[in-house]
Amino acid sequence: MDPKQPDFPSPAAGKLWSGRFSEPVSEWVKRYTASVDFDRRLAEFDIQGSLAHARMLHAVGILNAADLAAIETGLARVLEEIRGGTFPWSLDWEDVHLNIEQRLTDLVGNAGKRLHTGRSRNDQVATDIRLYLRAAADELLALLKDARLALLEVAEPHADTVMPGYTHLQVAQPVSFGHHLMAYFEMLDRDAARLADCRKRINRLPLGAAALAGTGFPIDRERVARELGFDGVCENSLDAVSDRDFAIEFCAWAALLMIHLSRFSEELILWMNPRFGFVDLADRFCTGSSIMPQKKNPDVAELLRGKTGRINGHLMALLTLMKGQPLAYNKDNQEDKEPLFDTVDTLTVSLRIFADMLRGIIVRPAAMAQAAQEGYATATDLADYLVKKGLPFRDAHEAVARAVRRAVEQGCDLSALSLAALREFSPLVGEDVYAVLTLEGSLASRNHIGGTAPEQVRKAITRARARL
Ligand code: ARG
Repeated sequence: MDPKQPDFPSPAAGKLWSGRFSEPVSEWVKRYTASVDFDRRLAEFDIQGSLAHARMLHAVGILNAADLAAIETGLARVLEEIRGGTFPWSLDWEDVHLNIEQRLTDLVGNAGKRLHTGRSRNDQVATDIRLYLRAAADELLALLKDARLALLEVAEPHADTVMPGYTHLQVAQPVSFGHHLMAYFEMLDRDAARLADCRKRINRLPLGAAALAGTGFPIDRERVARELGFDGVCENSLDAVSDRDFAIEFCAWAALLMIHLSRFSEELILWMNPRFGFVDLADRFCTGSSIMPQKKNPDVAELLRGKTGRINGHLMALLTLMKGQPLAYNKDNQEDKEPLFDTVDTLTVSLRIFADMLRGIIVRPAAMAQAAQEGYATATDLADYLVKKGLPFRDAHEAVARAVRRAVEQGCDLSALSLAALREFSPLVGEDVYAVLTLEGSLASRNHIGGTAPEQVRKAITRARARL
């Protein structure tokens, strides 16, 4: 409390803005417009922002030392109450900002009422969301790093493990299992780069824009930006309070990442099916059936796949929310929070569980090799072999296609056809053909950067580790 000044009476019962109104809002309107039930999650960021704002007001001579001290002690107390679960949250105070300001004023009197000088909830909320999202981005970047580490850990011992590579989900060519995993490393690596880039646009300070046009007080925005760790201030006040493109960008990032995770999940689900049998998931990531005793279901992978839907939905929600909004702030923007919070929560858990699940997979190289063996996966190698002996590629393709047809009829692999049988399709075939028809030979031959040769996969893993 400021001892030198008497307490001013509070505005007419209820709202901090109610002086202009002749009657309170109806109960339904109160509930409809309030956001405190969900935006209280921003409380700690709101307090950080308020402290930086108050210190700046003092530094430029708008707020005296006693008021600043009262605000600092008051906000510390508010924070304590919030953390301790004793803070008196109330729908009467609409949102997190008004709840905190009201409580501060209850605690310290007039100093609390001076805090809002040169500021509006419009630039306040935009600042809070950016602080929140920046912290979330940093946490998610760390989780993304761990997910990539998990991919490397599983890929490394499997550079030489052969599995069928697919196109159209039909066996195409043999690939290294490590190479397959490293494809996901690349996807997640781009996801990390995208988030780091998005963070730059999140990390700008809106405060100082006030309601929309700036303020007549001699504020120091750079100082507030520095104290809050922003890279700089938003250049235009109208833009600062109204656009949520940084949040949309974040949700777009999240949608893409979930799509990558869903693709991997789908593969795990397929691979776990006994028809594939390529991997088994640790029991702690599977559940049973209440009726079929034999079942072991990959529920976690299915949920990872399924949660992509809600994340895509949140992106759509924010895009639709922003579309056609005139400058500057509109209450529509209050609707940005729940999709954003759920996106952060879902991604946080999903990334964590993805890395754990990955580290718990049991790989079955024999089943992978057998599936590659049965799918004529080395047919392209045979065609390439004939090309190296001088046959034009199209003719080689045709010759091998006929050889495959014969093998299918006989129910055997290409490598099981005799030399005489193979020579029926091309006289260029010699004894050395069998080396080409092995899975290992096929793999080793793709020995260039980006190729699946185990040597290349090992190099890719080394480079990837250095990138992390
Ligand atoms: N609860 C509001 C939101 O989330 C805060 C800003 C409200 N500003 C206003 N002028 N009504 O967007």
